[in-house]
Amino acid sequence: MLCLGIETSCDETAASVVEDGRVALSDVVSTQIDIHRRWGGVIPELASRNHLLQVMPVIDEALSRAGKTLEQLDCIAVTSGPGLQGALLVGLQVAKSLALAAGKPLVGVNHLEGHLLAIRLAADAPEPPFLGLVVSGGHTTLYEVPAFGTYRRLGTTRDDAAGEAYDKVARLLGLSYPGGQPIDELAQRGDPKAIRFPRALRGDDILDWSFSGLKTAVLQHVQAHGVPTGQALADLCASFQEAVADALTKKVMLGAKKVGATQLVLCGGVAANSRLRSLAQERAEAAGLTLFLPPKRLCTDNGAMIAVAGTEAFKRGVRSELSLNSDPSWRLGA
Ligand code: KG4
Ligand code: ZN
Repeated sequence: MLCLGIETSCDETAASVVEDGRVALSDVVSTQIDIHRRWGGVIPELASRNHLLQVMPVIDEALSRAGKTLEQLDCIAVTSGPGLQGALLVGLQVAKSLALAAGKPLVGVNHLEGHLLAIRLAADAPEPPFLGLVVSGGHTTLYEVPAFGTYRRLGTTRDDAAGEAYDKVARLLGLSYPGGQPIDELAQRGDPKAIRFPRALRGDDILDWSFSGLKTAVLQHVQAHGVPTGQALADLCASFQEAVADALTKKVMLGAKKVGATQLVLCGGVAANSRLRSLAQERAEAAGLTLFLPPKRLCTDNGAMIAVAGTEAFKRGVRSELSLNSDPSWRLGA
C-alpha cells in the first residue's frame, strides 16, 4: 500500500512516499528556515508564498526518488491542521487537485497525529498502547494512545510550547532562529547547575506544564547580569535546558504511572534535544518503561509522518471529501 504524504503547515514544504505505513521510499523536505531567520520567527505570508513555489517540485521529487507515479498510489494524505491557515491551504489545495486528477482517495491528517506516528518509520517501533509526548515549536502535549486513531490528552502546556520557549530564549540571547539547536549545542559545554531556574506546576496531581515563568526568569537574569558570553552563556543555556528537560520528563513519568503505560514515545522538534533524550532514557529506565526515540530527522516536520498517519487512517476507512477545509486549530483527541 502506497501513500503520498504532503506537509505545509508551518515552514517546511515536505512530501514523501511511504509503503505500508512503515517504510519511507522517499522523504523530501524543503525548509524555509533561512527565509524566516532574519525575522526571528515564521512570517505566515512568506511561508504561504514559499510553499506555493516549492510544493510541486517537492512532490515531483518525492515521487521520482521513490520511483513511483501518481497512478501507483493508493491514497494521498495531507496535513489539514493545525498550523498556519495560509500555509495549510497550499498543501491542501494541491492534494485535492492531485486526488481529483489521478482519481485517488484523499485523507486529511492532523499534524500532531503525524508527529505521534513518525516513530513507525524507525526500525524499532511500538504497537499501541503507548504514551506519546508531542513537544514542538507550537505544541507540548502528552497523549495516551490506546489504538491508532484514538488519542487521549493527559496534559498540555498552559502557555508557551517548549520549542517556543527555546526560540524566545535564543532570541533574548542573540542566538539564531530556530533556537533549539544553538542552545542545545552551547548547553553541552555548560554547567546545568550554574543557575537554578524555576519549575512551574510542581504538584504531583498536575500533568500540565507552564514555560512562561521560565522564560521570564531568563529575561530577569539577562536584565540583571547582561547578555552572557563565553562560559557564562554556555552555563545559562545548560541551566535553561535542564529546567525544560526536567519539567517535561517529570510530568511524562507521572502520566505513565497514572495510566499504567509501559511504552513511551517522544516526538516533535524538541524531541531532537540531547538533554531531553538522555534524561528521558534515564527516567524511563528507572520507571521500567520502554522508550522509543525517533531519529532526529523524524522529530522535525516531514512528509513521511503525514503519510504514515494517512495510511493508518486509510486502513480504518477514513476518506476526506474534496470539499475538505483546513482547520488551523484542529485539536487532536479528547
Ligand atoms: O516539530 P517542529 O519542526 O515544528 C513544529 O511543528 O513546531 O519543531 C520545531 C521546534 C522549534 O521550536 C525548534 O527550536 C525546536 O523544535 N528544536 C529543538 C531542537 N531542534 C529543534 N529544541 C531543542 N533542542 C533541539 N535540539
Ligand atoms: Zn510539527
